[in-house]
Amino acid sequence: MKVDIHFFPQNIEDLLLKEKIVVVVDVLRASTSIATAIYNGAREVVPVLSVAEAGKIAINTGGSVVLGGERNGVKIEGFHVGNSPREYTEEIVKGKTVVFSSTNGAVALVKTKFAKYSLIGSFANVSLVADFLLQQNQDFMIICAGKQHAFCIEDTVCAGMIIRKVADAAPIEPTDAAVASLALYENFGHSILEMLQSSEHGLFLQEIGFGNDLEVCAAVDSLPVLPVYANNAIHAWKVDNKPLLT
Ligand code: MLT
Repeated sequence: MKVDIHFFPQNIEDLLLKEKIVVVVDVLRASTSIATAIYNGAREVVPVLSVAEAGKIAINTGGSVVLGGERNGVKIEGFHVGNSPREYTEEIVKGKTVVFSSTNGAVALVKTKFAKYSLIGSFANVSLVADFLLQQNQDFMIICAGKQHAFCIEDTVCAGMIIRKVADAAPIEPTDAAVASLALYENFGHSILEMLQSSEHGLFLQEIGFGNDLEVCAAVDSLPVLPVYANNAIHAWKVDNKPLLT
C-alpha cells in the first residue's frame, strides 16, 4: 500500500484525486464536529465553501436544515451553530441536513469531491478510519486541512496515528511526508491533549473561549462512526445497509 500525505490541500489538483482513497483530517475542529453530527443522527452534512452557497442550499432544502460553521473560529452570523463539536447534539441535528462551512476543513473536503472514497478522519474515529483503509488494502492519501495554506501539527499527528495503525497491520510504502507524520506521531502521540493545547490553533481556540473543545477533539475513538463524503454530502459509511457503529 502506497501512503502519501499532504499537509494542506491548496496545492492538490482536484481531478488527480479521481478514483483515489482519501482521508481528510481537520482535528480542530471540522472533522470532529462533522463526526459528532453524523454520530448524533444528522441525515447528512453538506460542506460548502461560502456563506452564500449555504444560504442557497438552505432555501432549496426547506425547513429541516441546520446551518453550521465558523469564520475566525466563531459562529457565522445568522447560522444556527458554530464549529464546536459540543454544539452538534442529537437534539439539534437528528434527522437534519447540516450545511457546513468552515475556513479550512470545508475547503479540504470540497477538494476531494472526485475521490473514490473521502473519509472524514479525526482522533475521535481514528481506529475506524484505519480499519477501513486496511479492508480496502489499496494506496491512500491523507489530506490535512492545515491552516490557511500552511502546515499544522494536530492534523499531521492524527495522520501519523492513522498511518501507524495501518502500518502495524500491513506493509506500507510511505512517502517522505508520510514518514515525517509518523515521526511526529511517535513524538507527540503520548499526550494528544497537551499537543492540541500547545498548538497554534489550540492556543487560539483557548484564547477565544473554546478551550473545552480541545478535550473533545483529543478523545481517541470516542465517536464510533465513519463519515464518508460522496455526491456532495457526508453520510455514515454503511455495511449491509446498516450504519457502521460499534
Ligand atoms: C476550520 O475549518 O478552519 C476549522 O475547523 C477552524 C475551527 O473552527 O476551529
